[in-house]
Formats: sequence, C-alpha cells, structure tokens
Amino acid sequence: MVIIALILLTIHFGVATYYYLRNLGWARNELKPRRNSNDLPRVSIILPTYNESNVILSKLDNIYAQDYPRELMELLVIDSGSTDGTAALAMKWCSEHPDLNCRVINEGVRLGKAHALNEALKHATGDVIVITDADSKWLGNSLRRAVELLMSEGVGAVSCVKAPITNNTIESTYRDYYTVLRIGESNRYSTPIFHGELAAFRKDLIMRFGGFPTDVGADDSHMATVLAINGYRALITRDVVCQELVPRAVNYHRWRLRRAQHLIQHFIKTITKYGSRIPRGFKEIVYTEFFLHVINPWVLIAGLALLLIAASQGSITAASLLGLGALLAVVVRLFRTWLYTQFILLAAMIRNMWNRELVWEKVEKDVAQ
Ligand code: GDD
Ligand code: MN
Repeated sequence: MVIIALILLTIHFGVATYYYLRNLGWARNELKPRRNSNDLPRVSIILPTYNESNVILSKLDNIYAQDYPRELMELLVIDSGSTDGTAALAMKWCSEHPDLNCRVINEGVRLGKAHALNEALKHATGDVIVITDADSKWLGNSLRRAVELLMSEGVGAVSCVKAPITNNTIESTYRDYYTVLRIGESNRYSTPIFHGELAAFRKDLIMRFGGFPTDVGADDSHMATVLAINGYRALITRDVVCQELVPRAVNYHRWRLRRAQHLIQHFIKTITKYGSRIPRGFKEIVYTEFFLHVINPWVLIAGLALLLIAASQGSITAASLLGLGALLAVVVRLFRTWLYTQFILLAAMIRNMWNRELVWEKVEKDVAQ
C-alpha cells in the first residue's frame, strides 16, 4: 500500500514539477510575434460593474490616465442593477470627463458578468475590446503595450500578469508560480488562463466565435482559449501588469474557491467540446492544465489516504512520510501554498456539482492594505 501511495505522490508532484520546469525553459525563449503596423486601433474598454461604488472612481481615473490617444478610446461601463449607486457615480464621472467617449449602460437586472459583457459588445464600436474589473488597476503603459501586442501577426488576445496588493504570502507565492506558467505557455504557443483585470481581444474574432460564454464562469479564459484553438495566439506578457485587491480572512478562501470553480468549468468544457480540435502546440498545454486542475488533486488525496490507512495499520514508513509532509508544510512556504491550492481545487470540484457560481456574491476586499 505504501508503494502505491508513493507512486501516486510521485505522479502528483512529478507532473507539476516537470511542467513548471518546462515552462521555465519556454519562458526564456520568447517567440516574438511580428508587428503588423504602427497604426493604433480604436479600442472599446468594457467595465462590468455590480456594486463597486467604493472603487469605481479610482478605477475610472486609472483608465483615464492611460497613455493611449483619447480619440481612439471608448469606455463602456455596463452596470447590472447595482444597489449602491455605482451607475450614478460612473455617469457623473463621465459627464466630468467630456474629452473621453464614455457611456454607462444600465442592464437593470443582474444576469452575470459574461451576460453583461455580451450586452456591452452590442454597443462597442472599437476594433479591439478590452475588458477590465472594477477592483483592478493597470500599471504603467499596460493598455498600450497590450494593444500593440494584439496588433501583431497571428495574435487574437492579450492579457496581463497579476500583481496582487496583499501581505498574504499564500497569494503572492501562488501568483509567482502561476506567472511563470502563463509566460512560458504564451511563449510556447498560447496560455489557456486569462485575467479579467485586463483582457484584450480582436473584436472580429470575439464576434466570429460567438461572444463571451455564459455557461462557464471563466469567460475571459474560455474566450481566449477558443481563439487559441482556432489558430490565434492568446498571450500574457510581463509588459502588461494589473494590480488587484485581495480579500482577507475567510473571504479569501471563498474567493479562491469560486475562481477555482470557474477555471475547472472552463477546462472541462474545453476538453469535452474541443478535445480533438486543439492544435498541436496547444495540446500539451491544455491537457496538462486540465490534468493539474481536475485530476491531480485527486491523485494527491488518494496517495495521502493510502498513507493514512497504512499508518493506522502500523506502518512506520507511512507514518514517517506523513510526518515529513506535515513538517514540510510548516517550514516550506511553496509546499504549504501548493497543498492549500490542491484542497481548494478539490472543494471547487465538489461544489461545482450543485452550485456553479455563474452569478456570484461580491466578496469584500480591503481598499487600503
Ligand atoms: N455588469 C456586471 N454584472 N458586472 C459584474 C457582475 C454582474 O452580474 N458580477 C460581477 N461583475 C463585475 C464586478 O463588479 C467586477 O468589476 C468584475 O465583474 C469582476 O468581479 P469580481 O467580483 O471582482 O470577481 P473576481 O476578481 O473574483 O473575478 C476574477 O475571476 C472571474 C472568474 O472567476 C476576475 O478575473 C473576473 O474577471 C473573472 O470573470
Ligand atoms: Mn476582482
């Protein structure tokens, strides 16, 4: 039994480590797409909001401060019946910034973020669609860098690296690990995980491939993946950086759980709907990410369960291995972060069976940390 447990644990940690190392390698050799032209396109920025009155104004100011020609920018705030005055605040802000083409669309009812994005698409006139979340900020010239990369040959979508504003070491350790994968995958072919804090798409492609999916929570990641499956690259680059607020205490766990639920929905849909159509360079990426999100957490649990059973039957080896694992979890931050993420993924898969969280309860984030 201990041997089987060891095999399972070797698979669990082996696949994850191997994939990480592969991405470290890919991250070094950037496959730079060629720029098509120097002409900047017209951009429609879509900002979906639901009860964001405490962050909406600083978010709008951050968009306004971007180094992008104003006459080529259109800002569409799509509000789904906020009850805290978000829409009114945004409307006032727009009227105070007449040099920016800015509009607030009231959806009235709340049917979820993806639904709101599709509604806003009907009003968007730009060639490029950039979606963004109210509780995030774009650093430096991120908008311009994203659009420039998007205009390069063969690229369909571009997103940001995330810089969490937090002193939660689980979140920052997780992010550092995740960013290496995003950059590595982007250099290799495309990344199947995008960030709604800044996700830029060619509008013609969004329309051709049916708009944002409303049946999976990770609308941004899924849209990008559909484009990548159809031969357009979906890239994350270190030139484009988003800051985001991170909830604290129990809210942090709820937030991680819901995001994990959404990613799992996205990978399951991707594999079941497009499995055989995924192009060669992207196959290894999508299948490995599917394995890491959907299968690998169960491999860990099975290995741990076998060790526990063996230890309860008196196996000293099993008990020592469990002890060693517990010690590592206390001492090594990366190991602790990894285990935490695996438990979140397991809980997310279970929760997806009865609640997919397609319209989610807002989680409070601290504005000043
Ligand atoms: N119009 C509209 N309608 N906007 C909504 C709705 C809705 O029903 N629900 C949420 N939003 C807005 C929020 O106001 C915010 O601006 C943005 O969508 C993201 O919502 P958050 O509550 O901040 O979610 P998050 O940061 O945890 O979500 C991340 O993961 C999601 C997938 O799980 C982001 O990357 C999202 O972009 C992503 O969709
Ligand atoms: Mn957010």
